[in-house]
Amino acid sequence: MDIQKKTVSITNLGVAAAALLLSISSVHAGSTGEAMYLQHCSMCHQPDGKGIPGFFPPLADNPRVISEKPEKVQEYLSRIIFGYHGGLIVNKQMYSGNMPPIGYVGRINDSELLELINYQRTAFGNNARPVTFSELARARKTGSP
Ligand code: HEC
Repeated sequence: MDIQKKTVSITNLGVAAAALLLSISSVHAGSTGEAMYLQHCSMCHQPDGKGIPGFFPPLADNPRVISEKPEKVQEYLSRIIFGYHGGLIVNKQMYSGNMPPIGYVGRINDSELLELINYQRTAFGNNARPVTFSELARARKTGSP
């Protein structure tokens, strides 16, 4: 049982390390939102937003990422700000990983965070309306669910 657990976490690390190398090699100048995404999210969710099936959920073609309903937007924002490990199903694939809170990389100011979020809602073929400052402020204020 213990050995099995170890093997799983080593495999996990291997994938994360490979993903990190991939994202470092493909960092290039673009919009602030894109640069922020490449720096803070792409090592897991990948530069093309497709994630790694079974490990990191896709942000491309993910109904929760492009949701327009205010309460769904709040749920999504809170996952980005406070991290998440509740387990997910996206496009019939299960995930039960750990997403770190955005604060783990130090303080990112709200205008940068908003650009990052809106980049990711409109990149990789996504076409969602931008999130507003007040929605972001509300999600921060509401706190972790
Ligand atoms: C260390 C890896 C890692 C990093 C870095 C990371 N995430 Fe995640 N993210 C995950 C994992 C794993 C999950 C799924 C958690 C689960 O299964 O409970 C997730 C879930 C999500 C979700 C929820 C998806 C859904 O279907 O509800 C969103 C949105 C998201 N991440 C966006 C981001 C953004 C934006 C960034 C950069 C600021 C980021 N993530 C950085 C690993 C990461």
